[in-house]
Amino acid sequence: MGLLDGKKGLIMGVANEYSLAWGIAQALHREGATLGFTYVGEALERRVRPLAESSNAPLIEPCDVGSDEQIDALMSRVRDIYGHLDILIHAIAFADRNELSGSYLKTSREGFLTAMEISVYSLTAVVKGAAELLADGASVVTLTYHASRQVVPNYNVMGVAKAALEASVRYLAADLGRVIFGSMQSVQGQSVRWLQAALQASANSTASLPNVPRCVAMSPRRMWARLPSGCVAIWQAASQVMLCMSTPGHTSSGWPTPTFNAKAVSGKEHTAP
Ligand SMILES: NC(=O)c1ccc[n+]([C@@H]2O[C@H](COP(=O)([O-])OP(=O)(O)OC[C@H]3O[C@@H](n4cnc5c(N)ncnc54)[C@H](O)[C@@H]3O)[C@@H](O)[C@H]2O)c1
Repeated sequence: MGLLDGKKGLIMGVANEYSLAWGIAQALHREGATLGFTYVGEALERRVRPLAESSNAPLIEPCDVGSDEQIDALMSRVRDIYGHLDILIHAIAFADRNELSGSYLKTSREGFLTAMEISVYSLTAVVKGAAELLADGASVVTLTYHASRQVVPNYNVMGVAKAALEASVRYLAADLGRVIFGSMQSVQGQSVRWLQAALQASANSTASLPNVPRCVAMSPRRMWARLPSGCVAIWQAASQVMLCMSTPGHTSSGWPTPTFNAKAVSGKEHTAP
């Protein structure tokens, strides 16, 4: 019997088999959760659909989080197929590549707004759309990064976006006290996709990144093959942490790995007196 037998989850943010969301989905599926998946555009559908089908997903729907109409359409499909949701995974972020290199000072207005809309507001928009479907004690999980609190060269506008995402989690938790919110921070400088964006940028700059092996720009596939095994272990550990955070009724203590700073948030603890 799995930890999540009978639970229904929606996974937003699988792009391919290297996505953190896919690691999370596999962990949830192994524990018996029934999962739905979203994708953006036909090109990603071709990658996401076979992965989703391999976990027998009854729901595979398009959803660009920049569109309220698409979010509404998604949630009405979730209502039709599942009736309610126990787990919502938000593993979505986007910033224009040009904003992820060099000085933060050169961030454009457009690049800033795009990063904030897709990487931050999307959590609020999706939770708003799903609010009526979330079961008591449901889990909502999003993924953050320590560049929200410390300057990480080249992470730039995404660091600002992650800080705003963390604040959003606190406000959403206060509004929906019956839902458990979690956010995950990866360990400093040791992450998979972040390496991809930041190191591609750093290959052209003299900035040194803290605790990160120097790499040259390369495709995700080649980079994956060359990653230090520790990074792969971290991806797997992240999936386990996400599994715990996604398990309805979990508590914030006793995370299985010290590798990640994972935190459950309740509205009460973050509400000013
Ligand atoms: N990989 C890391 O090292 C790391 C570390 C800390 C946090 N994170 C966070 O984890 C999350 C997942 O990142 P990942 O590394 O798996 O990369 P990824 O590229 O696999 O996932 C990002 C996802 O965002 C989706 N997305 C982008 N724009 C969208 C839009 N308009 N509508 C809907 N979806 C959209 C993409 O389709 C993709 O599935 C992100 O929030 C990222 O910031 C990643």
